[in-house]
Amino acid sequence: MHVKSVNLETVCGITSVLPENDKFEIAFAGKSNVGKSSLINALMNRKSYARTSQQPGKTQTINFYNINDLLYFVDLPGYGYAKVNQEIKEKWGKLIERYLKKSNQLKIIFLLIDIRHEPSANDRNMYDWIVYNGYNPIIIATKLDKINRSQKDKHLKMILKGINAKPGTTILPFSALSKQGRDEIWDLIETIFVD
Ligand code: GTP
Ligand code: MG
Repeated sequence: MHVKSVNLETVCGITSVLPENDKFEIAFAGKSNVGKSSLINALMNRKSYARTSQQPGKTQTINFYNINDLLYFVDLPGYGYAKVNQEIKEKWGKLIERYLKKSNQLKIIFLLIDIRHEPSANDRNMYDWIVYNGYNPIIIATKLDKINRSQKDKHLKMILKGINAKPGTTILPFSALSKQGRDEIWDLIETIFVD
């Protein structure tokens, strides 16, 4: 898809009323620092429209990016960020839950997991929770540039096994540095939207 316009339309904090959008939404979930905002930038062809940071815990709100007045990318706060106190963590968790449960327009959930590492307990819980709520998440294995090419297939298998993914679960490797995988992710979005 050619991205002609992007607009950060709605920003929701822990006490915000969530928007009732009239266009489909695609949500990006995953551990803090896994590369959600970077993936959104790559898909939008924007260098740093979505704020990214080396410090985990950068995105602390749910951000709705209007793409071409056609659909929304929904950037979620990351989970598992150790430096945030328990109370705030729970509030973020509740906000994410509230969004994933309530949205009527949510069409795709991308669950991002770092290709280098075994999924964490938080990743497994997130995956289970998404499935429990009736979605089939698409797994994006991020930071592909950080492993040797020969290790890719092994690591993709490790991730699927680590979250105990349902048979047939789609997993796509991606690098925000090289943009490898970006076209495949757009192809997938387009296929789902044509259905
Ligand atoms: P939170 O908002 O804290 O939940 O993090 P996030 O998931 O949005 O991560 P973000 O996109 O801010 O990226 C975190 C850090 O990882 C930044 O320093 C990025 O530059 C880096 N990063 C993201 N994707 C990649 C990638 O594919 N390759 C490499 N090498 N670095 C990446
Ligand atoms: Mg972010």
